[in-house]
Amino acid sequence: MTTPIVKTPYAIDAWIESWDRQQELYVAEREQRFGVVVDTVAAIVGDNGIRILDLGCGPGALGTRMLDRMPTATYIGVDIDPVLLRLAEEVGGRYGDRFTLRAANLVSTGWADGLAPQSFDAIVSTTALHWLGAGALSEVFRTCRALLHDGGVFVNADNLRYAPTASRLQALSDRIEADHQQRAATEGAQTWTEWWDRARADDALGPLCVERDAIYPPRPVTDDGDAPPPLLDLYIGLLHDAGFAVVDTVWQRFDDRVLVALPQP
Ligand SMILES: C[S@@+](CC[C@H](N)C(=O)[O-])C[C@H]1O[C@@H](n2cnc3c(N)ncnc32)[C@H](O)[C@@H]1O
Repeated sequence: MTTPIVKTPYAIDAWIESWDRQQELYVAEREQRFGVVVDTVAAIVGDNGIRILDLGCGPGALGTRMLDRMPTATYIGVDIDPVLLRLAEEVGGRYGDRFTLRAANLVSTGWADGLAPQSFDAIVSTTALHWLGAGALSEVFRTCRALLHDGGVFVNADNLRYAPTASRLQALSDRIEADHQQRAATEGAQTWTEWWDRARADDALGPLCVERDAIYPPRPVTDDGDAPPPLLDLYIGLLHDAGFAVVDTVWQRFDDRVLVALPQP
C-alpha cells in the first residue's frame, strides 16, 4: 500500500501579507506611495491597454496594485531574486497573460534583451533601485528612456537622500524613520532578516533561498563595488543625462519620495 502524497497548499496570501508588513517597517506610508505611483501613471498615459515595466518587482506588489486599478493593462516585472520571483509567479497567475516576469540582473547589459524600443507606456519601480551604483543606474535610465515612447512616464518610489548641504534634514529624516521602525517592530512587524530566516525554514521556499544566497547580495556585482547612498540630486542628474526632459518629485515623506521623469516637456 502506498501512502498518498498530500500536496501542502502554498500559503501565498500569508507570504504576501507578511512581505507587505515587513516592507512597511521600512516604508511608513507604503500604500499611499503605491497609490501615488498608480495615479501618476494613469494621469499621464491613461489606463487603457497600457504596457508597464516594473524594475526590481519583488513579489509583484506594485504590479497587483496597478493591474487591479487598470483592468486592460499588461505588466512585466523584472527581478533577480528566485524566491521573490516564485511568489510573484503565484500572485501573477491570477492575472493570466497580463502579468509576466523576467528573471534578470539589472546590472547586466542583457536585462532588457528582446524588449522593443519605445514599447512601454510606463516604467515603474519601488524600493529597489537604491541597490544600484551610479554607473549601473545611468545605464538602466538610458535603457528605460529607449524603451519608453515619447509620451510615456518613468516613476521611481524610493528613499532618495538629501544633499550633503541639507545634512540636518537628513538627520531629521533618519530619526523619524528610526522612530517609525521601533513602533512598527513593537506592533509585531518582522524585520528583513527575520522574514528571510522564515523563508529559509519553509519547505517550498527553502531550496530557492539556497539559490538566492549564492547570488546575493547583488551589490558587489555593481560597477563600483558598492552602491553609494542614493542621493536625490544624483538621480535627477542621471535621468536628465539619459534624455528625460522633466524630472521632479511628486510626493515626499522626509527622504522617501516618488520621482517622476518625462521624456518630453
Ligand atoms: C526591497 S525589494 C522591493 C520589491 C518590490 N518592488 C516592493 O516594493 O515590494 C527590492 C527588490 O529589488 C530587487 N533587486 C535588487 N537588485 C537587483 C538587480 N541588480 N537586478 C534585479 N533586481 C534587483 C531585489 O531582488 C528585490 O526584489
